[in-house]
Amino acid sequence: MTRFTHAIVRRPCRALTEGISSGLYPGKPDYELALRQHDAYISALRKCGVTVDILPADERYPDSCFVEDPAVLTGKCAIITNPGAPSRNGEKDEILSAVRKYYPEDRIEKIRFPGTLEGGDVMMTEDHFYVGRSERTNEEGIRQFREILRKYGMDCTEVPLTEVLHLKTGVNYLGDHTLLVSGEFSDKPVFSDFRKVAVPEEEAYGANCIRVNGTVIVPEGYPSVLSSIRALGYPVLTVDTSEFRKLDGGLSCLSLRF
Ligand code: GLY
Repeated sequence: MTRFTHAIVRRPCRALTEGISSGLYPGKPDYELALRQHDAYISALRKCGVTVDILPADERYPDSCFVEDPAVLTGKCAIITNPGAPSRNGEKDEILSAVRKYYPEDRIEKIRFPGTLEGGDVMMTEDHFYVGRSERTNEEGIRQFREILRKYGMDCTEVPLTEVLHLKTGVNYLGDHTLLVSGEFSDKPVFSDFRKVAVPEEEAYGANCIRVNGTVIVPEGYPSVLSSIRALGYPVLTVDTSEFRKLDGGLSCLSLRF
């Protein structure tokens, strides 16, 4: 699995309380608690051996701590997305300056209108990308994404979504040809060749774990997910994400890892 040296995060802003929420996990985020949870998340990433670039809070965009959505960073190029949520679309311009620090201009690509795409819909496996077609990521966005990947010798497979916000809400790659899957992803033919670790319905949020340089970071409060991952033999760190969950945000959403 790709070894990561860096991560980019953005501090939660006070306007976080006005972020988009499906209401699946009720309540408004507690800003001070969200900051403490964000600190712990950064510490976990550092323990996994990555240098973390911490961008300042941006009050114009309540959901801007979910930095995974406005960009997709690969070993060969950076792709600035075009977020499908209108209140989040401007985040793409803000992430661009952070990405420029790490990628030369001729390796920075963009998804352009009428294409929309959010990074939460993109799952990278060893050498291939899976892209969820969701309410945030449309057909044209995926067409452009594929065209960009092919330019760099990579490719992607489209995965239609019916139940969840983003692809990685319900399926995440742990390396070693293994997927953590919940709900609609448990039996999708497109993933039939992978070894699958099933997440029970009552722990569906726990399907959003991230493996960073060997260690799996797991959200706190998902005992079945935790024991399944331990059973695979992976070292584990847990981080409480209760305040981000209220906005449907998971562990992967909170960073760009590259
Ligand atoms: N609240 C995160 C999102 O809906 O994009």
